[in-house]
Amino acid sequence: MQEKIKEITQQVADYQIDNKEQLEAFRIAYVGRKSVIGELFDGLKEVAQEDRRAVGQELNALKNAAQAKFDEFQTLMEATADKSVAVEFDLTLPVIPNTLGSVHPLTVVRARIIEIFEKMGFSLSDGPEIESDFYNFTALNFAENHPAREMQDTFFIEKKGGEVADDILLRTHTSNVQVRLMQNQKPPLRAIMPGRVYRNEAISARAHCLFHQVEGLYVDKNVGFKDLKDTLFHFAKEMFGQDTKVRYRPSYFPFTEPSAEIDITCLICKGKGCNVCKYSGWVEIAGSGMVDPNVLELCGIDSKEYTGFAFGMGIERITMLKYGIKDLRLFTENDVRFLRQFDGV
Ligand code: PHE
Repeated sequence: MQEKIKEITQQVADYQIDNKEQLEAFRIAYVGRKSVIGELFDGLKEVAQEDRRAVGQELNALKNAAQAKFDEFQTLMEATADKSVAVEFDLTLPVIPNTLGSVHPLTVVRARIIEIFEKMGFSLSDGPEIESDFYNFTALNFAENHPAREMQDTFFIEKKGGEVADDILLRTHTSNVQVRLMQNQKPPLRAIMPGRVYRNEAISARAHCLFHQVEGLYVDKNVGFKDLKDTLFHFAKEMFGQDTKVRYRPSYFPFTEPSAEIDITCLICKGKGCNVCKYSGWVEIAGSGMVDPNVLELCGIDSKEYTGFAFGMGIERITMLKYGIKDLRLFTENDVRFLRQFDGV
């Protein structure tokens, strides 16, 4: 009998209880009248009279130990009822790997644009996003009532008290940095200006109130239209591949004369015509032109001595063309299913 008590005491101590099922199995085996311990109590009457007291004490100790263990685990299970995982935690499982974020496609393309122009000797310039009318429009040769001001759909800034200031605005293009650069530095100037710009547009697959541009400016003696063409030709080939064809289409910007829009062969249909290029085979990637002499003068540069070219492109547009993205809104929605596709780009 004493041997048996020892053995069962050991079993009770070793019994592993990790979940409710095991706790129940433990209860059936060791707690209550029908358990092995209950059976031992039944057998007590067969123990010799003189030993009965001592054996009875040992048996009681075993019964109490089993009950205590049961109570302890029952309380524990109740406390972790909703968090049964904690109890069932399996240390032998492989670890869940840390997931790393990916670089935003606009950041990838922005870096690539900068890299291409830096290799051609352009430096980086930056300027404010909250801008005065002068830097965003006036110094860029936009006349007071010029329709191009409306073309830009500008957000004006509210002053304290809710009054809208008509001279403080969110810049509609990065051309404001051109003006600041020309005012602050003497030619030769050769810089690109990446940054965020704002326009009061309804958000759709093709338009957004917030997007990014990279503007470029080169002012020196004898800068000609050929330099502009060569620079953007080289850029298009580096960015989109050596087979890319480039064309210059006459256009209008108040701050450049002559002005041209730059198209490349549609990357989706390779020039055959599709709905992205509206069946023309060409897609626009940038606006450009020779800096209007008025702008040079307004910025304190002698237009008889110096000439320059400027260009501006939308980073979203370049990214959409490069990766075949059809909806502008994807860039700002932060849907990881979209972003993860650019892992390792
Ligand atoms: N600022 C023009 C725009 O936002 C782009 C541009 C820049 C055109 C420089 C010509 C020269 O559309």
